[in-house]
Amino acid sequence: MKKRPIIIDTDPGIDDAIALAIALFSEELDIRLISTVAGNVGLEKTTNNALKLLTFWGKAVPVARGADRPLLAAPTNAEDVHGASGMDGYNFPDPDRSNLLTEHAVNAIYKTLNESAEKITLVPIGPLTNIALLLRMYPGVKEKIEAVVLMGGSVTRGNKGVMSEFNMACDPEAARIVFESGLPLVMAPLDVGRRALVHPEDAARIKSMGRTGEMIYALLQHYRSGDINRGLKMYDSCAVAYLLRPEMFEVAETYVAVETTGTLTAGTTVVDLKGYLKQRPNAKVCVDINGAVFRDWLLSALKRCP
Ligand code: RIB
Ligand code: CA
Repeated sequence: MKKRPIIIDTDPGIDDAIALAIALFSEELDIRLISTVAGNVGLEKTTNNALKLLTFWGKAVPVARGADRPLLAAPTNAEDVHGASGMDGYNFPDPDRSNLLTEHAVNAIYKTLNESAEKITLVPIGPLTNIALLLRMYPGVKEKIEAVVLMGGSVTRGNKGVMSEFNMACDPEAARIVFESGLPLVMAPLDVGRRALVHPEDAARIKSMGRTGEMIYALLQHYRSGDINRGLKMYDSCAVAYLLRPEMFEVAETYVAVETTGTLTAGTTVVDLKGYLKQRPNAKVCVDINGAVFRDWLLSALKRCP
């Protein structure tokens, strides 16, 4: 089977770790590069966490460090959700740093795209700072991008601001650059993540899946995005799920604008489902998900991890 080439831009992050596990052991995806960005925790920690995961699995995917702060917004974090390390709950061995590139993630992404014989799909599952910088520094690279399939935004209410989702709220200006880029965009917002749940019985099954399952189970004990008894939200795995099983989603092609100036609303994704703004659609928005299909898919995908 021909694998789909992707680059994952990430801020690990416990839900990022689960999304990376699924992507790294999928037979359908060819991960050309993992770029890191400040988000859930600072850049040193997100980079270390990406390296720790790759070392844990013995995967030699190149890693490139990206932006250590948003374009303009004040840095923030989600340590209350993921812990101070960004992946609290499991004591990873020191990471092998031999796959850490010296060049900045933006240049590494640019080089990877340019050297590829085929277009590559970008899969951002953190703030969009690196992607925005890429588009500003190398606008011509758009022709080498197949699509951008991202976790972020919300059709309804937020989880960082009243109306803004964390990844978009971290760097509203970067998000606006990406949504105005004209690139083929798929947005997996909070609205599907809130239904992409791991319940206690699922966590118990994950724990019995061996070394990766035990590690993920330990992380889930510290993950505060949801309540273990009502379900933990697998936000970032929704972006990977779209790549592999898009049929589990209900999708609306519509116009999405990113608010950047509102004192109370910066980072809000304004998803114009009814066309009030009279703009051409610029994104496929996942507006619903079959939660049972997602759950079965997640468990079977994690079972593939060693
Ligand atoms: O709002 C959820 C997003 O913010 C996820 O990507 C999670 O990892 C955090 O980065
Ligand atoms: Ca993330």
